[in-house]
Amino acid sequence: KRNIIMDCDPGHDDAIAMILAVANQNTLSIEAITTVGGNVDVEKNTLNALKVCDIIQLNDVPVAKGAERPLVKDIVVAESIHGESGLEGPNLPDVPTKQAESVHAVDLISDKLHKSNGPMTIVATGPLTNVAMVLIKEPELKHKIKEIVLMGGGTFGNWTPAAEFNFYVDAEAAHVVFNSGIPIRMFGLDVTHQVQATDQVISRISNIDNHVSEFIVELLRFFNKTYQDVFHFDGAPIHDACTIAYLIDPAMFKFKHVHVDIETKGEHTYGMTAVDRLGVTGKEPNVYFAYEADTTKFWDLLERSIAFYSDK
Ligand code: BDR
Ligand code: CA
Repeated sequence: KRNIIMDCDPGHDDAIAMILAVANQNTLSIEAITTVGGNVDVEKNTLNALKVCDIIQLNDVPVAKGAERPLVKDIVVAESIHGESGLEGPNLPDVPTKQAESVHAVDLISDKLHKSNGPMTIVATGPLTNVAMVLIKEPELKHKIKEIVLMGGGTFGNWTPAAEFNFYVDAEAAHVVFNSGIPIRMFGLDVTHQVQATDQVISRISNIDNHVSEFIVELLRFFNKTYQDVFHFDGAPIHDACTIAYLIDPAMFKFKHVHVDIETKGEHTYGMTAVDRLGVTGKEPNVYFAYEADTTKFWDLLERSIAFYSDK
């Protein structure tokens, strides 16, 4: 079993990543869920994480609120994609039942790393602010991290022509993480755009007919409409869920071991990932870059995982 900490900004696709992880606790042990400012502000992202925990009855895993702003820049949010609450679509109660811990996310992550016997995997599906802060605060903790499995970057952008949203929000944090020497599995837009929830996918999920499938269908109807309106896609990419799908079934994705640098200066390229696919820099590879997804396996796994939540 892999011990994981999920650092996220739910977020439609972050929520689906959580649902996938909880349904597969035979493979994954979820040690903590931490939140960061990103899709919307950290207060709202934390409420959303707690509400998702309520829906999937994840009662025994601590949730802690993290950084409200990036290391250097002011925060940028993606209400244009995820709506005002960050999880627009489903009708959710204003106040969750589950409560957040009083500890800061950065301290909860450090504490979990200190106390763990074996190495932990960090799954990061929002801006990398919290993860970078842990590494800045206690650099030696990197030896307790087996791998950072993250969604971000790509060889093109979705927030600017060059930059993907998570890395555009906090490129300096991404720079710290990519230069840490910790093994990184990167699920960028090149691969996450292969996993698009078309209407056909939504009707497949709707046929499962339990409270989680209903929740996901409502999420996806909203998320799809944004992606159709903003990007003219057939369906929304379920970006963040690729990280968890990989941990459950590593054979689902193809990787290239490459060097990746994070642009922190460019006028048009701030937050860009410079992915050295041809090895032109001669620098040591620091990233397993995912470039292909087996989408049949992906949708089968999602379907099985949603069916796990049978309504009693
Ligand atoms: C990433 O940005 C967020 O809006 C999504 O949750 C995902 O993590 C995609 O660029
Ligand atoms: Ca996210």
